[in-house]
Amino acid sequence: MGQTKPLTSMLLGLGHLISVIWGFPFGPVLDVDVTPRTTVHVNGLLGCNHFHGAAVNYSSLLLEDGPGLLYVGAREAIYKLDTANISDTNISLSLEWAASAEQKRQCLSKGKNNQTECYNHVRFLDRYNDTHLYTCGTHAFRPRCAYIDVARFTFVRFEEGKEKCPYDPTKGYTGFMIDGEMYSASQYEFRNIPDIRRNFPFPNLRTDDSPTRWLLESDFVSSALLRESINSSIGDDDKLYFFFTERNTEPTAYSSQTKVARVARVCKGDIGGQRTLQRKWTSFLKARLVCAIPDYELQFNVLRSVFVAEGSDVHDSVFYGIFGLEWRNVKMSAVCQYSLRDVQTAFDGPYMELQDSKWREYTGKVPDPRPGSCITDQHRALLINSSRDLPDNILNFVRKHPLMSRQIQPVGGRPLLLQRSADYTKMAVQQVVGLDGLIYDMLFIGTDEGWLHRAVKIRDRVHIIEELQLFEEKQPINNMVISQKQNSIYVSAPSGLVQVPLSSCERYTSCYDCVFARDPLCGWDGRTCAEIASYANRSSLIQDIQMGSRGCTNITSDGFVLHRTRAVMAGDDVLLQCEIRSNLATPHWTLNGQQLQGYGVDFGYRTGNDGLLIIGTQNQQSGHYRCYAVENGVWVPVRSYVVRVQPVPPPASHLSGSPTALPESFFTTTTAPTPSPSSGPVEQILSPPPALLPSGPEFQTYRHMEAMYISLVAVLGGLCLVLTVVLLYVSFCAHNSPDARKYSQQALSIPTATERKRSSHFELKTISSHCNGRTEGRSRATSRDGEFLQIVPADIQTTPSEEPPPAPPLPMPPPLPDSEYANGLSATLPSMLRKMNGNSYVLLRQTDSEMTSPLYHSFTEELNKILEKRKHTQLDIQPDESSV
Ligand SMILES: *[C@@H]1O[C@H](CO)[C@@H](O)[C@H](O)[C@H]1NC(C)=O
Ligand SMILES: *[C@@H]1O[C@H](CO)[C@@H](O)[C@H](O)[C@H]1NC(C)=O
Ligand SMILES: *[C@@H]1O[C@H](CO)[C@@H](O)[C@H](O)[C@H]1NC(C)=O
Ligand SMILES: *[C@@H]1O[C@H](CO)[C@@H](O)[C@H](O)[C@H]1NC(C)=O
Ligand SMILES: *[C@@H]1O[C@H](CO)[C@@H](O)[C@H](O)[C@H]1NC(C)=O
Ligand SMILES: *[C@@H]1O[C@H](CO)[C@@H](O)[C@H](O)[C@H]1NC(C)=O
Ligand SMILES: *[C@@H]1O[C@H](CO)[C@@H](O)[C@H](O)[C@H]1NC(C)=O
Ligand SMILES: *[C@@H]1O[C@H](CO)[C@@H](O)[C@H](O)[C@H]1NC(C)=O
Ligand SMILES: *[C@@H]1O[C@H](CO)[C@@H](O)[C@H](O)[C@H]1NC(C)=O
Repeated sequence: MGQTKPLTSMLLGLGHLISVIWGFPFGPVLDVDVTPRTTVHVNGLLGCNHFHGAAVNYSSLLLEDGPGLLYVGAREAIYKLDTANISDTNISLSLEWAASAEQKRQCLSKGKNNQTECYNHVRFLDRYNDTHLYTCGTHAFRPRCAYIDVARFTFVRFEEGKEKCPYDPTKGYTGFMIDGEMYSASQYEFRNIPDIRRNFPFPNLRTDDSPTRWLLESDFVSSALLRESINSSIGDDDKLYFFFTERNTEPTAYSSQTKVARVARVCKGDIGGQRTLQRKWTSFLKARLVCAIPDYELQFNVLRSVFVAEGSDVHDSVFYGIFGLEWRNVKMSAVCQYSLRDVQTAFDGPYMELQDSKWREYTGKVPDPRPGSCITDQHRALLINSSRDLPDNILNFVRKHPLMSRQIQPVGGRPLLLQRSADYTKMAVQQVVGLDGLIYDMLFIGTDEGWLHRAVKIRDRVHIIEELQLFEEKQPINNMVISQKQNSIYVSAPSGLVQVPLSSCERYTSCYDCVFARDPLCGWDGRTCAEIASYANRSSLIQDIQMGSRGCTNITSDGFVLHRTRAVMAGDDVLLQCEIRSNLATPHWTLNGQQLQGYGVDFGYRTGNDGLLIIGTQNQQSGHYRCYAVENGVWVPVRSYVVRVQPVPPPASHLSGSPTALPESFFTTTTAPTPSPSSGPVEQILSPPPALLPSGPEFQTYRHMEAMYISLVAVLGGLCLVLTVVLLYVSFCAHNSPDARKYSQQALSIPTATERKRSSHFELKTISSHCNGRTEGRSRATSRDGEFLQIVPADIQTTPSEEPPPAPPLPMPPPLPDSEYANGLSATLPSMLRKMNGNSYVLLRQTDSEMTSPLYHSFTEELNKILEKRKHTQLDIQPDESSV
């Protein structure tokens, strides 16, 4: 035991984790990282309203949909906002509630942090009665509570808060007010004693700690009241559920784990015992919530948040829990769903008992009526009208048996969703009826970096419709609440509050885009993707939540609206742009109608979400290229190109064979807008929709001039680029230092340069490391053993050193309209570098057989490669400016 155990356990646990992560593709089907279909950055948000008051740390939210008001508790302030538009400052009111300077000074003298802890953090905010709210704050480590007159929005009375609110703003806390009764759970007072309490009215109740402690260092996340008395055939009571993580004392299969997720339950009508358990709960029971991946022995044992989704019948209610791992440095979240019926079954099952300081299932006789149950008709028949009438033998049993033996398994026996790319913090669930008449649970999940995942549960899986970046600055989502009336979700975080529409269907620009999204709120009406709720007659709307593929009219291969011609010098690289917005779509290319599998082709094709890169184009690679976005088995045409490969002219006196000579054909980019023969929705499938241009003689002239202009600018731009590269190269070799590297990043907007190797592994290297002993560009085939992937972050910020900085970069060519120049290398290309899984590029050609999984390439890497190659060709063959 002792000291080595935790370490060993942790290693064991990590071993499981690693086996889950790496063993995934070969293990049972389980998405370890569910990819959101689309990624929306903060500047792409639609219809959002923001609120930033003078305060920070927006956490408590109280929504009153009837009057359309949202009350927000922050640090030292409470706000009253209009739910229709939280930005509307006409209606919004604020109420300052700061701890006094004296109080803050005392807080500081207690050794607390005056930057974070010694403030009044509002932690409780709920409706008290028709005219008043009740609120509690940490008040610089001396909790206070207060009544707020809603009509005048002022404080009317303050009172002591240490029994109701934690001292520490970061301590887990949950609570609510119902029927004039206040319930709260936290670690209270200076000694951080965990407790679940009824704070008022009298008699207030709490948990017991002798002879058995009911709670152990419990960290509370959520609570809820379920009205189980309504239409109860046994005259049952309403029940309160509390969710938390606590120290584990039970024996488990996972010895590595010191924590356990729990649900506890008490009865609303409980008033404590007469002599035994006086002013203590007589109905407290708790059980373990299991959220694990079967077969991997990996338990998500730390609860972060729970959302209680009440069913139309209260017994059909479900709990959604966000779980994490005990090791804080391992980023992984799971969402598990539990049914109330399973929870009830556990509470009706066998108890655990502490024997010789070990918890074991209790197998002895259980007194009747059942300990821990609410007062029911069965009790009343025995003249037990309240918990005070309970006999001592039952109460003594309750004292010693707070824990149930049966564990609560998630619905489906496994997590609904696993996420490795984000740490989930908070969630809310909304039920929506789809066009197919089925009820879907829509999940809104906040991350620790200020993102919101909008997802839908389809059967026992979760499809993430989109991820929205709500806050530019990385910060955890603190809280969220859904307003059905306003069709909005309000999300709070340290820096502010955002009102997000429940759906933004207009973001989907084509029928397939709309259908692939699988958003239960959106449908395609033949022209646009729109909220189905806005249609009275929905019979003609198209939606396919179940498969995400059906309903749109067939597309033919002539559906391409955008045709382009591209001429390229043999041996050069060419990029055929084809941006795909969906992270779930796979780009597929055909050459002259044949699918470009790559594996059989001995050419350097690279395909990614931005386009197709042909490296070292050869004559046979001429032809008609078509790009399709393949999603859910549907091939959606996106772009089509005719590539003409021109033989390299024989070397002339002034070295015109070099790419730097920039023959005219190199940049000839003719755009031939051929109106699609197909009609209607087919044109809509293009994303983004291309600007259809008129045709006619004037237009042709215009196009001709434009082409000339573009060519000219491109030639000049290309020259600038080449010169920049030369300059850079020279400066790198001159100052082979981190500074030089930093400079390269700034000048080229790319992180690193890479060597292309004929190896199955790739090494990412810095440009500066390539300066010596390198003469050849393309056909270089360095073979080294033990090659590895070294990832260099793109945004390295090195501090300036004394060394003189290299010469400033030459201006880059300005981006052209419909920017396609210099082999399709557009300045806007690495636009969305937050491509899923961080891999923009998939290697189509794999020369080595050891590879078992596709190797991914980042787009910047490819760019680097091209630039690097140019650079070397440039150096090998002296540039001749007169040749331009
Ligand atoms: C309050 O917000 C600041 C940033 O604005 C953050 O550093 C701090 O941790 C937050 N405190 C709490 C208790 O959330
Ligand atoms: C909300 O109010 C702000 C400020 O008055 C305004 O700029 C914004 O357009 C409003 N938003 C909506 C959706 O009306
Ligand atoms: C807010 O106040 C401005 C100026 O007083 C007024 O023009 C605007 O209509 C008001 N907005 C609302 C929603 O009342
Ligand atoms: C916090 O306390 C330090 C002294 O310990 C003081 O210098 C600083 O100004 C205080 N900051 C605030 C915000 O009160
Ligand atoms: C609500 O509670 C406040 C504070 O106790 C009290 O002053 C007020 O009269 C109550 N209002 C109603 C309608 O009961
Ligand atoms: C309770 O039962 C009554 C009569 O059977 C029914 O009308 C009512 O809807 C039920 N209430 C709930 C909440 O189920
Ligand atoms: C319980 O209530 C019943 C009827 O309301 C009453 O007759 C009985 O005396 C009560 N029992 C106790 C122990 O108070
Ligand atoms: C709804 O639209 C469909 C087709 O457009 C039509 O056949 C049907 O009669 C409409 N129903 C109503 C109630 O208007
Ligand atoms: C779409 O195309 C597939 C295969 O070409 C064919 O089986 C199907 O009937 C077509 N559907 C429609 C609606 O045209």
